[in-house]
Amino acid sequence: MTDKSNAVTHADVESAYARWAPVYDLVFNACMKPGRIAGAAAINALAQDREIALLDVGVGTGLELPMFARHARITGIDLSEPMLAMARKRVAEQNLTHVEALTAMDAMELTFADESFDAVIAPYVLTVVPDAHRTLDEMARVVKKGGEIVLVNHIGAEKGLMAILENWLGRRAAALGWRPEFPWSIVGDWLATRPDLALLERRQLPPLNLFTLIRLKRL
Ligand SMILES: C[S@@+](CC[C@H](N)C(=O)[O-])C[C@H]1O[C@@H](n2cnc3c(N)ncnc32)[C@H](O)[C@@H]1O
Repeated sequence: MTDKSNAVTHADVESAYARWAPVYDLVFNACMKPGRIAGAAAINALAQDREIALLDVGVGTGLELPMFARHARITGIDLSEPMLAMARKRVAEQNLTHVEALTAMDAMELTFADESFDAVIAPYVLTVVPDAHRTLDEMARVVKKGGEIVLVNHIGAEKGLMAILENWLGRRAAALGWRPEFPWSIVGDWLATRPDLALLERRQLPPLNLFTLIRLKRL
């Protein structure tokens, strides 16, 4: 199953995030922090009494990295080298020794073997990748049976003023580097094709219920 509804390409992502990298934390730290905290809490609940191997897909500047339990062994990947450079700086400055690797990689073509990780997290990434279904397939491939995929994402409004605004903004998706409109059906339709995955949680998050925490379990 592929999701061809996105106007954002790899080239758009690379040029948009090269521009965003120096100011990303200033603009996106506070407003998206509740989602990172909720995502990290879901991961830390899994890591409560054991060491886990965690993959952070689209790690960006690494704002969520300090939020994970110190005994989670973290691998972060991202398409954008300028974003990864900021994440590496954070790891060094904050001595985040639980981060084992930060690597340039395409979320739609992960180079890890099947079932490499106990958990996979992707905060604010599905609206950015060119093909959300391929990305979800890859996350499901590399997570172990019994493991979790934790997503934090803006799910677009289906009707009303917000839907009109998001559709209008959607025409600027390539320049923004993400798609403001992102219906639940993109995740829901994909999930319907995956009997090996169960939806554990779908919960709206502040600010203003703009974002949604989604937890999936690989059966
Ligand atoms: C909105 S940022 C989120 C960063 C971080 N997770 C956070 O919470 O701040 C989205 C990130 O996804 C990355 N990205 C976009 N497409 C990607 C792809 N195909 N493979 C890997 N990373 C990608 C971008 O470079 C960017 O760093």
